[in-house]
Amino acid sequence: MRIGVIGTGYVGLVTAVCLAELDHHVIGTDVVREKIDLALAGRPHIYEPGLEELLKKNLKEGRLTFYHDLDKTIKDSDVLFVCVSTPQRPDGRADMTYVEGVSRRIAENLNTYKLIVEKSTVPVRTSAWIKRVINLYRRNAEPFDVASNPEFLREGSAVEDFLHPDRIIIGVESAKAERILRQIYARFADKILVTNIDTAELIKHASNSFLAMKISFINLISELCEKTEADVELVARGMGLDPRIGPQFLRAGLGYGGSCFPKDVRALIHIGEEMGVDFGLLKEVDKINTRRIEIFINKIKQALWILREKKIALLGLSFKPHTDDIRNAPSIAVIRELQKEGAFLRLYDPQAMNNMKEVFPEKEPELVYCQSPYQALEGANAGLIITEWPEFQAMDLTRIKDIMSNPILIDGRNIFDPDEVRKQGIEYYSMGRK
Ligand code: UDX
Repeated sequence: MRIGVIGTGYVGLVTAVCLAELDHHVIGTDVVREKIDLALAGRPHIYEPGLEELLKKNLKEGRLTFYHDLDKTIKDSDVLFVCVSTPQRPDGRADMTYVEGVSRRIAENLNTYKLIVEKSTVPVRTSAWIKRVINLYRRNAEPFDVASNPEFLREGSAVEDFLHPDRIIIGVESAKAERILRQIYARFADKILVTNIDTAELIKHASNSFLAMKISFINLISELCEKTEADVELVARGMGLDPRIGPQFLRAGLGYGGSCFPKDVRALIHIGEEMGVDFGLLKEVDKINTRRIEIFINKIKQALWILREKKIALLGLSFKPHTDDIRNAPSIAVIRELQKEGAFLRLYDPQAMNNMKEVFPEKEPELVYCQSPYQALEGANAGLIITEWPEFQAMDLTRIKDIMSNPILIDGRNIFDPDEVRKQGIEYYSMGRK
């Protein structure tokens, strides 16, 4: 069995490499030539822990290759994993242009039976559209099946998540498709849940929206903590001890970002609208999340009053630690707001600076990229913690106090113990606690 992976972004590249690691023969392809050239050279175009080693290993052992040519990838494969992006359109809906385009190309190159597996996050009912498109553009009567196998990888631990999954959801409508997917995931036989396709598609959107709701819930509680003497960290700990609630995804802070949660919440609101189901609950989730930035900016103003020409260090630019991804990162919204106020920004991130330079090019003195957190904090009027990279938790607070113009830290991720920081003579603000 040969597996083709169409689209080698964060999801596709990890999927291709890890399917090869599961002993399958895999071909990856992408419209961006450079991504394929880099992959063939054993160099992922993204930073994801463990990925480079496995890419090199599977290329060398001959299970994995990459083609520039989509038509040839389709013809040479028995199973096709569709991992192209489904970006958010201005109205919040998912843009299905790439999925439709790939479906057409599959139709035109249908030389033998193919199983087409949607891996990208797609609205419920997408598989029905894929089937219709293939039937419209096909040139012969070769049979095919469509299946849904949503991905649940978290960036920063995607390889680990793929190779040690909690669950494998398989949405199928034929016994043959189920058999093939069970064979692909044979190593995780006890983790497989087989459903119909609509159910599988919805499991993905429902899971991500539920997790986003958990985050917004604790962030709303955090707003209330700030008006009282309550401490959101302890509220979350107390809630999380109830196994029905669980401790995960109750970290208050700057809110959720990334390529999934913001987009999936909005997509589900729209799917609901189209189907006549009111998802007002998720509209609130989105609203609470957007408000986090405003609340954070107000803390900076509370500390510095006027921000014009104040030197402000931003520590952490990626939307979460252990990734270079800045899609929907809270840092972008924070930078935009601070620029409006005329602040001078000093940026540092262990992995995401190259990506950020494309959005905000360096321009002295307004916006400068630094080589270390200390360089960013040197002479600054305030330091902001935007992403909870372990490197920041390990910083030397005495040194920070000495090098800053005004030793003020505004911690959007609650990485420090307030007493510890204040003991060093640093003025400290955090989220949902005194
Ligand atoms: C998420 C899902 O977890 C994954 O299953 C799906 O396949 C893709 O979307 P990812 O976006 O990589 O993964 O990151 P995740 O660790 O889930 O965090 C998402 C966002 O929520 C981040 O911005 C993170 O900072 C934020 N978050 C997470 C919080 O603000 N508080 C929390 O308690 C947890």
